[in-house]
Amino acid sequence: MKNFFKSLKFSFLSILIMFPLFLTADEGMWLPLLLEKNYSAMEKLGFKLTPDQIYNLNKSSLKDAIINFGGFCSGSIISKDGLILTNHHCGYDAIQNQSTVENNYLKNGFWALSKEQELSNPGLSATFLVRVEDVTQKVMGVNNENAKYAPWDSAMQSVTKKIVEETTKGTNYSAEIKDFYGGNTWYLFVYETYRDIRLVGAPPESIGKFGGDADNWMWPRHTGDFSLFRVYTAPDGKPSAYAKENIPLKPKYYLPVSLKGIQPKDFAMVMGYPGRTRRYETTGGIKFLLEQSNPTRIKLRGAILRIMKIDMDENEEIKLKLSSHYASVSNYHKNFIGQNKGLVRMNTIETKKAEEDAFRKWVSADATRKAKYGTCLDDILSATENLKGYNLARDYMNELLFSAGGVLQIPYLVSDAYKMMKKPSPNPDTLKTFITETSNKLKNHFKEYNYATDKKIFTAVMKMYYNDAPKLFHPTIFDDIEKIYKNDFNAFTDDVFNKSILTSEEKLQKFLLAPNVTELENDLGFKTMQSVLDSYNNKILPLATPERRKLGIATRLYLQGLMEMKKDKQFYPDANFSMRLTYGKVIDYIPKDAVKYSYFTTLDGIIEKYDPWDEEFFVPQKLMDLQKAKDYGQYVDAGGKLYVCFITDNDITGGNSGSSVMNGKGELIGLAFDNNWEGMTGDLVYDGTLKRCINVDVRYILFIIDKFGGAKNIVDEMTLVK
Ligand code: ARG
Repeated sequence: MKNFFKSLKFSFLSILIMFPLFLTADEGMWLPLLLEKNYSAMEKLGFKLTPDQIYNLNKSSLKDAIINFGGFCSGSIISKDGLILTNHHCGYDAIQNQSTVENNYLKNGFWALSKEQELSNPGLSATFLVRVEDVTQKVMGVNNENAKYAPWDSAMQSVTKKIVEETTKGTNYSAEIKDFYGGNTWYLFVYETYRDIRLVGAPPESIGKFGGDADNWMWPRHTGDFSLFRVYTAPDGKPSAYAKENIPLKPKYYLPVSLKGIQPKDFAMVMGYPGRTRRYETTGGIKFLLEQSNPTRIKLRGAILRIMKIDMDENEEIKLKLSSHYASVSNYHKNFIGQNKGLVRMNTIETKKAEEDAFRKWVSADATRKAKYGTCLDDILSATENLKGYNLARDYMNELLFSAGGVLQIPYLVSDAYKMMKKPSPNPDTLKTFITETSNKLKNHFKEYNYATDKKIFTAVMKMYYNDAPKLFHPTIFDDIEKIYKNDFNAFTDDVFNKSILTSEEKLQKFLLAPNVTELENDLGFKTMQSVLDSYNNKILPLATPERRKLGIATRLYLQGLMEMKKDKQFYPDANFSMRLTYGKVIDYIPKDAVKYSYFTTLDGIIEKYDPWDEEFFVPQKLMDLQKAKDYGQYVDAGGKLYVCFITDNDITGGNSGSSVMNGKGELIGLAFDNNWEGMTGDLVYDGTLKRCINVDVRYILFIIDKFGGAKNIVDEMTLVK
């Protein structure tokens, strides 16, 4: 017994000495350019490369294989012929657009057995990062004189616009400047975008979306959430729109693919484009999310989803039309619910309050600090309070535009052309370009449009907006609904859907051939959403501007203060859709009392979940046969199982979908596609014991392509490391 305690003590201490990092969470989405500071921590976890091999301007490096897929997801290049690996849910819209009821690739999958069979996707893009540059001094002024502005002030926008123009002049690059740490630091990103992106492969939905909405944001997971595309270039290697003679991209770098599998505590890093986190949010912001913003969005989306589901279940064609939109509305509907549950369960407001108290204490202990940081936190809190109405109005506007969509989205889709038409003497060439672009946007819009469903959604959301939103921010259309329609929203909807040209692609395309501004402005559908936009832009935004500026300036100071207070801590910036790297390890977790989740799932688990009466858990016969025969080929794990998904503690968020997961040598081991239910507050606070990154095992991806899809040709173009 004595010995037992002795050895226990020894092993516990030695763990502390040898692996001090296991005690800290692998938190942070780091800029690949600045990894030097993280290097030793990464090495201790098992990283085998140098920072130089990740980001290097003079020779090819990992960053050259990482793409921004379509502007909304991440992806990576995995062959010498420009093959892109991304998620199924990232390629979903493209796959849906290629599908018809007769030729349903969403349902049956798609595999190109030769390059000739690959399908082009107008509107889809792949963007590579060329370089990053610190432009803080240029943006903030030599003496920080621009600190009097919030990062989103128009004064700042004109400064950054000029630098972007100078950077891109005479090149085919694009550039953007983004602020970090609340606007204390600014980086310039230079990009190259390719626009001939072809579909190469996709599993059927029963694999790519296995578990559907029930399993979404959950572990244990069994989804083969991947799809394959290819970048094409002009014959000279330059970006080009689709052309038959285009050739596959010869990439600067592509990721080798590891067949070696994963073990607990293995090093794992994820590179991609995380969209947005708010890790430095204060108690005020969290309270607003918890009490107002999330409930509003959950209610609106819930209503929209219920309406769509009824129509989709009734008719295969409607289902195909609406499924992509449905998936995206439902995705964050569930996310907001999980976030609110987590905020309550994790006592986040208390945690934040404690951080704020510590900051206040630190500030008041010193006169210089008091002078500099004395009011910033109170300023943030009061501005957040005063901006509640504005933020809620913005939530409504966004939900109307992007979740309800349909008629309500058209004013947004035609806005460039509309603004140009309204000019006294518009430049005819620019107008023509805008009209062509608008016409294409409308074509895509109507591919996913169903008149009857839209009509029901329109009534429901307008009613909710009218009843729930503060009266002060009601758009003028509500006056008409009160006066003319006596608040009969059904009568109002009938009028819109009988009279408006916005419900018909044919009428809208005809309008674009001979545009007439007055006709558009008098259209009842156009008027409806335009009045929401006008009220936001002309009434709500101007009222909010002074408070937004106060918030921006105070946030910059608060972050500056926090970083000064914790000098020894390495701070990472919030996600803002710029390329990031997060490192960590393969690791299991304890989701709740008495339950422990393993770090991997297998094909056997898919068979366990199989439910012939629930389409979300349908399993194709061929996959069942392969499992029965244990026909896993070279993709089997040493223990004889076929791994499907695994989890790591990498710090990711929305936008990271489609990001490659790499081992310490930079070889592809998986594909990140989700976070877990217990870690849903992750965008606001990171908890390393609960937050997990969910990945498809790359061996499952190869197995599906080769053994299930019969497209060995695709596997053969990769570099496999055995
Ligand atoms: N939760 C995943 C993400 O945000 C998306 C999964 C898509 N699947 C779905 N059932 N809606 O990256």
